[in-house]
Amino acid sequence: MNTNHIRTVKGGASLQGIIKVPGDKSISHRSLIIGSLAEGETNIEGFLHSEDPLSTADCLRKLGVDIPEIKKEEPFTIKGLGINGFKEPKEILNCGNSGTTMRLLIGLLAGQEGKNFILTGDTSLNERPMGRVSKPLSLMGGKIYGREKGEKAPISIAGNKLKGCVIGTPVASAQVKSAILLAGLNATGTTSVIEPASSRDHTERMLKAFGADINIRGELGRNIVIKSDKVLTGQNILIPGDISSAAFWLIAASIVPGSDILVKNIGLNPTRSGILKIMDMMGCNYEIVEKSTIAGEPIGSISVKTANNLMPFKVEGDILPKLIDEIPILTVAACFCNGVSEIKDAKELRVKETDRLKVMARQLKKFGANITEKEDGLIITGESKFSSAEVDSETDHRVSMSLAIASLLAKGSSKIARADASRVSYPSFWDDLENLIN
Ligand code: S3P
Repeated sequence: MNTNHIRTVKGGASLQGIIKVPGDKSISHRSLIIGSLAEGETNIEGFLHSEDPLSTADCLRKLGVDIPEIKKEEPFTIKGLGINGFKEPKEILNCGNSGTTMRLLIGLLAGQEGKNFILTGDTSLNERPMGRVSKPLSLMGGKIYGREKGEKAPISIAGNKLKGCVIGTPVASAQVKSAILLAGLNATGTTSVIEPASSRDHTERMLKAFGADINIRGELGRNIVIKSDKVLTGQNILIPGDISSAAFWLIAASIVPGSDILVKNIGLNPTRSGILKIMDMMGCNYEIVEKSTIAGEPIGSISVKTANNLMPFKVEGDILPKLIDEIPILTVAACFCNGVSEIKDAKELRVKETDRLKVMARQLKKFGANITEKEDGLIITGESKFSSAEVDSETDHRVSMSLAIASLLAKGSSKIARADASRVSYPSFWDDLENLIN
């Protein structure tokens, strides 16, 4: 493999070895944001040293938070400012490619009375929907403006006094839920969020650990209620590995003949581990070993070996939020199942870093995949014979890594353009791949 933006991957090799996946992206963002809201110091270990969480660090520094230079694999300490202590920055806050940074910061800043903020992102982020955050926050008194009637960044926020209220979110999105909960910390009274299906709950877990008055109620924990009367106190946070990064190896080992991998340090939070249910449906050959709990999050290592005769699967309904970032690699998996797999209710994929339904269908077809794109999903006919191809991540990190795994199944050498998009969530992906190739 070479080191420029085009990566070459040879098909035919099996994958063997032990991999420790990097820190969880969602928890890394939250460790900085919630640590900033706390009084006192927060010690962070296992932070994901990749572009997205580093964008959050950069924005928070501009807001006056004391965050040291973050070095790869080194624990560090930040000093919080309390709920109301953020300063009005002189510069525009650049969220890069990171939807989590932008949406959570909108929630954090909406209630900073009398202060003004401007947020922007890269070309992809500035096309993604922000009305899903700015509209509910405006019900609380938030003054948030943006292009296309508040729908798109650049976003400007005139910090205002917020009042708690009951908000039903139209999409099961942890980013939207988290933005409202963060705003609720700085609103009068009680704020209640009701989701259509439960999304990842890292914000709730972490806020509780920092001392917030937060309660999870309702059927399947879809109603979250927060009161603004508690001071948050700095904590020690140990961040587990990201199951969304582990997913590439779990699927790769399952579909690449002759593979045997142990993936260590995977966060197994039940609101994130939907992929394991799909792997069960497929009949994958895996075992969870070394289970434990760190910082209130279940973790484990997973040993995976190639499985023969993988069965097709259907992804639909309430499981979607639990595997939302794994759809690209599951699409690759479906190409190697015996029969027709279906991904439904997945419209959200169209507003990720790219339109992931369109991009995955377009790119995998170049290898010879049989995929039909639907409005809200994909139909994939398996038993594919992949030939080598020249494919393109189209700047999407998860597409880049999914195409790398797909290339392992193709005859000959494939080329992936803009492969370094992976730096957003998994900078060491290509080194890890090289180490696993036998
Ligand atoms: C995230 C939530 C999900 C996910 C994203 C990270 C988070 O987005 O796709 O990668 O950290 O809250 P949505 O909230 O838009 O579903």
